[in-house]
Amino acid sequence: MRISVIGCGYLGAVHAAGMAELGHDVIGIDVDAQKIAALARAEAPFYEPGLPELLRAHRSRLLFTTDVAAARDARVHFIAVGTPQRHDSPAADTRFVDAAVDALLPYLAPGHLVVGKSTVPVGTAERLAARVRPTGARLVWNPEFLREGRAVDDTLHPDRLVYGVDGDDETSVALLDAVYAAPLAAGTPRMVTDLATAQLVKTAANAFLATKISFINAMAEVAEASGADVTQLADAIGLDARIGRAFLNAGLGFGGGCLPKDIRAFRARGDELGVGEALSFLGEVDSINLRRRTRVVDVLEHELGPLIGRRIAVLGLAFKPDSDDVRDSPALAVVQLLRERGAVVVATDPVAIETARLRDPLPTYVETVEQALDGAEAVVLATEWAEYRGLDPVVAGSGVANRLVVDARNALDVDRWREAGWVVRGLGRAHASRVEDPRSVQREPEHAAERQPDHV
Ligand code: UGA
Repeated sequence: MRISVIGCGYLGAVHAAGMAELGHDVIGIDVDAQKIAALARAEAPFYEPGLPELLRAHRSRLLFTTDVAAARDARVHFIAVGTPQRHDSPAADTRFVDAAVDALLPYLAPGHLVVGKSTVPVGTAERLAARVRPTGARLVWNPEFLREGRAVDDTLHPDRLVYGVDGDDETSVALLDAVYAAPLAAGTPRMVTDLATAQLVKTAANAFLATKISFINAMAEVAEASGADVTQLADAIGLDARIGRAFLNAGLGFGGGCLPKDIRAFRARGDELGVGEALSFLGEVDSINLRRRTRVVDVLEHELGPLIGRRIAVLGLAFKPDSDDVRDSPALAVVQLLRERGAVVVATDPVAIETARLRDPLPTYVETVEQALDGAEAVVLATEWAEYRGLDPVVAGSGVANRLVVDARNALDVDRWREAGWVVRGLGRAHASRVEDPRSVQREPEHAAERQPDHV
């Protein structure tokens, strides 16, 4: 089938390539000429594992252009543009979605289907459906659940497909089933709902994930105050199938282009709908999350004293591993907070240095871990890239001026690092914060007071 994808960012470019992999002829459209030029050369304009391979493999089925008129040849049109946070409020800015649909209207005809994938405030799809209807085309809301870093696999093998339809519309359902024939044949569950439910499914899913992360980070605060270990707590409660271990990694919290802005937009929409009270807890979810960032800096200050002039290595800039996305990145926020307190920050990341530099050109970015560690008085593990998790603490210790590491993602093997002479501070891990072996505290009760977990 010939389809168009409007918006070729983290979502749209992967969706376009994924649809080509499913056997469709795809026209990818974006207003950003540079992005389109890269995609037309079969180059991914951002880091996403597996995407360059798909673009190269399906060159003959993928056309990228800035000209929306090219969509006239397609029958199904996916809307995959961004809905960032507004500059003047926490609500979502839906201007790009509106503009994409408006630009498409002249090329729509009876039998065409507009498929919304962008994350929008509930009520947006109904408004857009009314605009599309006079053309004879129909609109379905089909939210996207892909995760950056695993976007290709999530697109080709989704957990579920949700179609929000405008009234009774079996024709559109059948058309979308034809688009997704391969994942449906592989057994992907598919749910047909009304428009409002489909939009809410996406927002509610992201709100739940954010809440789960903030819940465990709230427990991290309690663990620090009570001498417990949040990672063991997460393992133990996660064994309860009703709770589950996924998304219970305490540390620096969530960032990226989705969860932070989505919970804010959801709250704002709740206020508009008169159900603000029902979503007020999301404000707390946001606050707990943002506190993690200052917490890392406070821990460093506790260990080193005033940070003015102190050299700190920050490992990781992306909001999560396997991505070069630094939108609302907790790692980049830590870099900025450290600089505000006068530290000399040397930061690195396997792939996100350029995107970080575009967002904030001021910090010192270096290409390698060795350069970052050279002469560092403390190290912060801010994004748990596999290569940072696997660092040899003996080798890492040879370049630094002081063996102090703040494991802000609770990703390191604490015993191994301590054996190599490092002071390891975790977040929500009283034991990982101690230099001494906790067993020795029991053997030498007279020193116990000095060796109590340090509740910074
Ligand atoms: C998120 C959702 O997981 C996707 O389902 C959704 O489709 C996407 O948003 C979207 O709306 O487009 P993504 O932003 O790619 O995906 O990243 P996640 O894997 O959800 O991670 C978000 C943040 O939470 C990262 O900063 C990560 O480091 C952090 N995180 C995740 C934790 O701090 N602890 C955890 O246990 C898990």
